[in-house]
Amino acid sequence: MIIAVDGPAASGKGTIARALAKHYGLPYLDTGLLYRAVAANVLREGLDPAIEADAVAASNFDDELLADPVLRTDESGKTASIVSAHPLVRAALLQRQRRFARAEGGAVLDGRDIGTVIAPDADAKLFVKATPTIRAKRRHAELQASGSTVSLDKVLADIRARDLRDMTRSEAPLVAASDAATLDTSFLSIEAALKRAIELVDRQVKLKAERDAG
Ligand code: CDP
Ligand code: CDP
Repeated sequence: MIIAVDGPAASGKGTIARALAKHYGLPYLDTGLLYRAVAANVLREGLDPAIEADAVAASNFDDELLADPVLRTDESGKTASIVSAHPLVRAALLQRQRRFARAEGGAVLDGRDIGTVIAPDADAKLFVKATPTIRAKRRHAELQASGSTVSLDKVLADIRARDLRDMTRSEAPLVAASDAATLDTSFLSIEAALKRAIELVDRQVKLKAERDAG
């Protein structure tokens, strides 16, 4: 069983995808980390994220880098959204994600293009969303908890800029797959969002089984 979870920054997709993986006993891959790893390499090497060849040169990395806390910084997230627009960077990370998705027993992946590009044949697809203001408040609270003094206005501006870049790029833009179920978490607690996510996945899996049975 493959479950694809896509959505914009701080929509709650990671929280939901991780909990779904636990619920269904499946391995989980946060694909944003792969783009963040490329970004971290670009920043460390002093390369230019806007130059495709520079970003591609930074796309070769070992799995150990995925555990580096530097990947979690806002700087890495912002740079990730710049390097991720390059088609050759996306191509460099494609097989790794497909292999994970198609491993025996299935998997849960979250990102921007899981339901559209990485696993268009997924058994269940969720598109998680929330208003920009609510997403900014969530990200702001996380940053404050980690000691940052960044303003809410700055976080909101960054979220809007990242949304725009992710939605308007020509390669694998952030968009809901036509067969994805939308889950708006704006006014849902984490518990309520997860309950709804499980209902939506169970329904999609049941419908697919009925279709496959003819
Ligand atoms: O993975 P993504 O960037 O989409 O978001 P996340 O890391 O799952 O969630 C961002 C923040 O929003 C976390 O601090 C969550 O605890 C919080 N959240 C929330 O307040 N309400 C929800 N329904 C989902 C997440
Ligand atoms: O956690 P958050 O939603 O803030 O970001 P993330 O999922 O770690 O992704 C960081 C950036 O990587 C995004 O803004 C996208 O530009 C890019 N990304 C992508 O293009 N495709 C994916 N499947 C996952 C992330």
